[in-house]
Amino acid sequence: MNETTKIESSFLSDVKTLRERARQSLTDGAVVATYQGDVAKTIELLQAVVATELVCVLRYQMHAIAAEGIHSESVAAEFQEHADVERKHMLDAANRIDQLGGVPNFNPDGLASRSATEYGEGGNLVEMIKQNLIAERIVIEHYQELIRYFGDKDPTTRIMLEGILADEEEHAADMHDLLVAHQGKPFLEE
Ligand SMILES: [Fe+2]
Ligand SMILES: [Fe+2]
Repeated sequence: MNETTKIESSFLSDVKTLRERARQSLTDGAVVATYQGDVAKTIELLQAVVATELVCVLRYQMHAIAAEGIHSESVAAEFQEHADVERKHMLDAANRIDQLGGVPNFNPDGLASRSATEYGEGGNLVEMIKQNLIAERIVIEHYQELIRYFGDKDPTTRIMLEGILADEEEHAADMHDLLVAHQGKPFLEE
């Protein structure tokens, strides 16, 4: 056997092993043997993301309706846009849980305690903007931690979270701009 044949045959046997392994673990779905993360842990962490995003959907949606009620149409539109993006984040995390063999937890029981952010209280326009800004700052920190945790262990989950993080940073900037526009001073100057 010359060198090329040796490499080819070992490559082929590798492919065969890979295929066999893939066939054996069909029931595992997207989780392959080379997955370096802890599947149960990943699902647990993503359940918290689902809960957090769900609470963000509910808060922004409540604020969008409340802001419209006080005739702040442009702020209401911004809240509504964010509510829609948070819903997309929630679905991304839920679908990743499904890919990993779990079932996304949408149970309203205990939702608030599974979430990293709070539902909020409504209030006047400035209070609502502040509640959202605080929530965005919390998720930014939380997702940065998760991204560092997943690192090379689970690049798919990490990349998904990086996309979400970029949106949250934009949201925080939007809320900050709204606060300056409606209160006249930046959040951190208080
Ligand atoms: Fe989000
Ligand atoms: Fe957000």
